[in-house]
Amino acid sequence: MIRIQRTHARTLLAAAAVLLHSPGQAGEVEVLHYWTSGGEARSAAALKEQLEKQGHSWRDFVVMGGGGESAMTVLTSRVKSGNAPAAAQIKGPTIQEWARKGVLSNLDEVAAQEKWDSLLPPVVADVMKHKGKYVAVPVNVHRVNWLWANPEALKKAGAKLPSSWDEFFVVADKLKAAGIIPVAHGGQAWQDFTTFESVALGVGGADFYKKALVQLDPAALAGDTMKKVLATFKKIKPYTDKNAPGRDWNLATAMVIKGEAGMQLMGDWAKGEFVAAGKAPGKDFLCAAAPGTAKAFTFNVDSFAMFQVKGADKVKAQKVLAAAILSTEFQEVFNLNKGSIPVRLNMNMAKFDDCAKLSSNDFVSTAKGGALVPSIAHGMAVAPAAQVAIQDVVSLFWNSDKMSVEEAASRIAMAAKTP
Ligand code: GAL
Repeated sequence: MIRIQRTHARTLLAAAAVLLHSPGQAGEVEVLHYWTSGGEARSAAALKEQLEKQGHSWRDFVVMGGGGESAMTVLTSRVKSGNAPAAAQIKGPTIQEWARKGVLSNLDEVAAQEKWDSLLPPVVADVMKHKGKYVAVPVNVHRVNWLWANPEALKKAGAKLPSSWDEFFVVADKLKAAGIIPVAHGGQAWQDFTTFESVALGVGGADFYKKALVQLDPAALAGDTMKKVLATFKKIKPYTDKNAPGRDWNLATAMVIKGEAGMQLMGDWAKGEFVAAGKAPGKDFLCAAAPGTAKAFTFNVDSFAMFQVKGADKVKAQKVLAAAILSTEFQEVFNLNKGSIPVRLNMNMAKFDDCAKLSSNDFVSTAKGGALVPSIAHGMAVAPAAQVAIQDVVSLFWNSDKMSVEEAASRIAMAAKTP
C-alpha cells in the first residue's frame, strides 16, 4: 500500500502557500472529474487533501463513467447554463475548444511564478496553452499501450508474456485451454477503442499510427494496413467472456487481480487498481508494452482547466490548486496512486515501481525517437467529434458479426471527416 508522505508535503506546501499567496479569505473550488475507481478515488483524495492543507475547500463534482465521455456531456450543460465548475478534468484538443469559447481562466501568472515552462516537456506544455497562454494544468502522463497479466494464470497455462500479436494469440489459446478467461475486457466503446489503438500501434507502427489516427489521412485510414489492424483487433473478441458487455474497466482489472482472467489491454490507470489492492508488480501482476509496441508510447495526459469564476477567494483557490498540482510532493503522491508517471520533469523516481520506471524511460526515449504518440481513444489526438465518430465505428465493428474489415475501414475513413 502506498504510504502518503504527508508531513513533508504539508510543510513544503504551506511554505508554497505563503510564498505564492498573501493570506486571505479561503476559497472553494468545485472540481468536475470522473475518477471513481479504487486507484482513481485515492488519487482524487490526494488532490483534495493538498488544496485543503492550504486552507481552501474542494467541492467534488463527480460524474461516473470511465473515459470521461459522460463527464464532458454534463460539463457542457453546466457551462451552457452559466454555471461552470471552477475546475474540470479536460484534456487534449478539448482544451482548445473550451478556450476558443472564452470561458477559461488565464493561468500565466501561476505558470510564471512556478516556472512551468521549465518543468514540463514541451509536447505537454503546448497542449495546455491556447494562443501561447496557459489555460490548463497537467497532472500526469498515462501510458495507454500496456498489457497487464496475472503471472499465476500464465504459469498455470504454461505461457509467458507475449511481445508480438502472434505470441498474444498463442498465449490466449493456452489460457483458454487452462480454463482461464484469456482477455479481461469491458464492453464499452471507449474500452474497445483503447484496445483498438494499441493494436493499431503494434501492427502498423508509430508512423502508421500518426498518419492514420492523428493526421486522419484518408488513404491510411482505408488502406491495407488498417484492414490488417482491424482483422487483428477483431481476432481478440472470442477471447473475452460473455459478461464483457457494459463491464467497467476496473472490474476487468479485478478479474486479472483475482486470476479469473489472464490478461488485460488497458492504460496504466489499471496499475492504480493493482496498487490499491496491495499487489506488487513482478510478483502479483506483470506489466509489459502491448504486443509490438515496446518501442512506442501512446500518451494520455490528464489535466485540469480552470473556468472563469466570480469571487476573489475562488480565483485565488484556483491558482493555489494549479500550483499545488505541479509541486514535486503532489506529483509523487498523486502518481504513485494513479498508476501514471509525473508530468513534471526531473522527478526523483525512487519510490516508483519498475512499471513506472519503464514508462518514464520510454517516455523520454520515444520522444527522442519520434514514437511518442497521442492517444486517440483518450482525447489527445483529434477533435472530440472525430474521436467519438471513429470510436463508434470501431465499437460497432467489435460488436457486429456482419461488418467486414473492408466496410469498417471505409466507415472509419468517413467518420474521420466529422467536423
Ligand atoms: C482516461 C483518464 C484516466 C482514467 C481512465 C479511466 O481517459 O485519462 O485518468 O480515468 O480514463 O476512466
